[in-house]
Amino acid sequence: MNNLKNYIEENKEKFLEELFEMLRIPSVSGSKKHDNEMRQMAELIKTHLLKAGVDKAEICETEGHPVVLGEKIIDTSLPTVIVYGHYDVQPAGDLSLWNSPPYEPVIKNDKIYARGANDDKGQLFMHVKAFEYMLKNNELPCNVKFMIEGEEEIGSPSLYKFVEDNKERLKGDVILVSDTAMIANDQPSIDVGLRGLAYVEVKVQGPNRDLHSGVFGGAVANPLNVLCNMITQLTDENNKVTIPGFYDDVLLVSDEERAEMAKAPFNLEAFKKDLNVKAVDGEKGFSTLERLGIRPSFDLNGIWGGYTEEGAKTILPEKAHAKISMRLVPNQDPDKIADLFEKHFKAIAPDTVDVEVTKLHGGDAYISPTDSIGYLAAAKAMETTFGKKPVPTRSGGSIPIIAFFDKALGLKSILMGFGLETDAIHSPNEHYGLFNFFKGIETIPYFYKNFVEMYKNAPK
Ligand code: BES
Ligand code: MN
Ligand code: MN
Repeated sequence: MNNLKNYIEENKEKFLEELFEMLRIPSVSGSKKHDNEMRQMAELIKTHLLKAGVDKAEICETEGHPVVLGEKIIDTSLPTVIVYGHYDVQPAGDLSLWNSPPYEPVIKNDKIYARGANDDKGQLFMHVKAFEYMLKNNELPCNVKFMIEGEEEIGSPSLYKFVEDNKERLKGDVILVSDTAMIANDQPSIDVGLRGLAYVEVKVQGPNRDLHSGVFGGAVANPLNVLCNMITQLTDENNKVTIPGFYDDVLLVSDEERAEMAKAPFNLEAFKKDLNVKAVDGEKGFSTLERLGIRPSFDLNGIWGGYTEEGAKTILPEKAHAKISMRLVPNQDPDKIADLFEKHFKAIAPDTVDVEVTKLHGGDAYISPTDSIGYLAAAKAMETTFGKKPVPTRSGGSIPIIAFFDKALGLKSILMGFGLETDAIHSPNEHYGLFNFFKGIETIPYFYKNFVEMYKNAPK
């Protein structure tokens, strides 16, 4: 890797220009009106893969947004690294909260500001550039397959079938992913756990029309009042979820493992300061890291109904809605949890209203071992470039398809992310540090080198 640092130094400007071009495309998977940009984004990924040197790249159609595949097979007797990432982004949200427009990337204080700067365009592009370096400098030690999807932010609905239908094409030895965060720039870490997810939407229907709140108020159930009341019943004073059976399958973590987790550096004061909150909150009996990593959670994501425009309108709304996410941990089944939710939510509904529950999406939790050659190769790579051994952590976020890769392809994913939890992904002013972007490009080639060496030495 003699030339690696030079290569990055000499191409910095070019890498950023190329990344900025991707960041200018509002590839929001969740709304129909961006379908053209989704297509444009898939094309651009394909172009970059070809430019970086893959033998072939293809835009693969699905029922939803396309998956981009690219591969470089140098020798079929060598192992294959599969790189997974996603080219779709979350909606920008309220534009007035952005200090600069979300799709006009800028660098400020050594950080790239744009929607997708970190999640996941910035992080996936590091892999394209690291691959380009390896190929150009005769340092590519194995085969590579890229699988870049466009539906991660909506639960990867088409990717399950795609993986199932393309098992042969997706044969490999390990999946490498940069779509998570590390603890700090001077404390690298590798995620070994992701939470699962069950996402539901509810509708509470009352009378057949909005009513005058004077003529009817106090005598007819108000669906918004009812919904709020029902939601507050779903957690108790210790922040435990009250849905019967919710915790039944939760894999308990041993005291030894909890003690091990507690050693990971975590600064609660800095955590609160970043969020500007005076105190944290969560399930009684667990630390913040445990609440995020090993315990499920219940969150109202949005609630609406009735009159929300300027001024006052005295109505009793006919219906109310809410979106709810439940983060899950290993062994909890998202479908089962959504069913338990539906059953309980209907059971606590008063007979003054009708309740509908729609399951939007879900995904399994994931844990990866720390003694696999994939993990060891990533840890050694980070140790080389950061000068410090990474610690294993469990993250609160979800990448629903990761558990399915294990199930369908028998492949473990290595979550070697370079973002920071303070990068404001999904929030206004998402950003990604230049340090992180270039450090990622520098670290990835060491992963390949270590992985192939360890693979060759591993007992077969
Ligand atoms: N990259 C994130 C997940 C993530 C972020 C994991 C930070 C660990 C640390 C991913 O793009 C994401 O946002 N996933 C969604 C999935 C959902 C929409 C199905 C999530 O976690 O909300
Ligand atoms: Mn992501
Ligand atoms: Mn995301």
